[in-house]
Amino acid sequence: MIKPIYLDYNATTPIAPEVFEAMTPFLTDHFGNPSSSHPYGTRAAEAVALARGEVAALLGAHHDEIVFTGCATESNNIALRGVARALRDKGRHLITSAIEHPAVLVPAERLRSDGWEVTVLPVDPDGRVDPNALARAIRPDTVLVSIMLANNETGTLQPVAELARIAHAAGTLFHTDAAQAAGKISVRVDELGVDLLTLAGHKFYAPKGVGALYVRRGTALEPVLVGAGHEHGLRPGTENTPHLVALGAAARLAREGLRDLPIRLRTLRDTLHDRLQQEIPGLQLNGHPQERLPNTLNLSFPDVSGRGLLAACPNLAASVGSACHEEGDAVSGVLAAMGCDARRARGAVRLSLGRDNDPVQIDAAAQALIAAWKGLSRDLAIR
Ligand SMILES: Cc1ncc(COP(=O)(O)O)c(C=O)c1O
Repeated sequence: MIKPIYLDYNATTPIAPEVFEAMTPFLTDHFGNPSSSHPYGTRAAEAVALARGEVAALLGAHHDEIVFTGCATESNNIALRGVARALRDKGRHLITSAIEHPAVLVPAERLRSDGWEVTVLPVDPDGRVDPNALARAIRPDTVLVSIMLANNETGTLQPVAELARIAHAAGTLFHTDAAQAAGKISVRVDELGVDLLTLAGHKFYAPKGVGALYVRRGTALEPVLVGAGHEHGLRPGTENTPHLVALGAAARLAREGLRDLPIRLRTLRDTLHDRLQQEIPGLQLNGHPQERLPNTLNLSFPDVSGRGLLAACPNLAASVGSACHEEGDAVSGVLAAMGCDARRARGAVRLSLGRDNDPVQIDAAAQALIAAWKGLSRDLAIR
């Protein structure tokens, strides 16, 4: 079987060979429990400490500010529900945005049903939150603002540093879901000025089922799960050493790759966009033209459905929106929040590039999409 060209790196990434190599000895020889005091335990504990250092280095954080979790969903839940619990006596108001991943929107909704008030900020047609709208929404009882760094469907980047400054000026904590940003752009907690930040290993070449939450020293946070004292008591449970080692190796790769990977991906992505634009009149970009992840291209193809277009390109693996929404035919909530009409949203396809893509693949992907679109629109014209 010829492998389809993979252009769905925002859904998940393959495990990088360097990451696989680093983690495998911890699935076999180095199986100890990091809490054990014998050599098997100390070997595992040292590896976990090294991994924590690598994740901290990627973010410009202190080692003790990294809490390992099972995924970005878990990190987001700890951030939202943990702050809510810790600060329930200060206030019961939370602010988020309309284009967040369900891993933020659903815990926010859950808090709403528990009696919290939740303000969901709108976005402009490029998918950005207006900092003035945040300033207007903050109240004396607001305890947390959670706004993502990069959107999973469009790649649009939020002005997080500015938003965090506004939140802090009002005495409110700021969380950002950076699951899509890490490894694709520089993510430094002090430049962003955030108190809490979410990472997902499988979005930057580590396995699925491992993530992290950055927690700035002194941030009020209570655990969601309770048990033993692992991860500063914030995420109890015996450490998943192989996956944590993998996350550390992936964080190192991401840090080193930031020198040239974003430039390479941007060039490939823009080449693909140019090729498609030349052949497809009426093609529309969804997302901010500049303030966008360098690997992400969300396009609305005129007169066809994104799903139908991809079905006509069997040699291409891409998606019509976030992987979490693939099954249904519902219009993407992100595109709806950006004001896209149903027709434009229906024609949307997300093409997200990664480190294994090359110019030959991009050329083949462009040809396949152009041929499929021309075929489908010709069929429509005949009908
Ligand atoms: C922005 C964002 N946040 C959170 C998640 C959830 O990640 P996970 O399924 O690994 O928990 C995703 C996954 O697509 C995402 O894109």
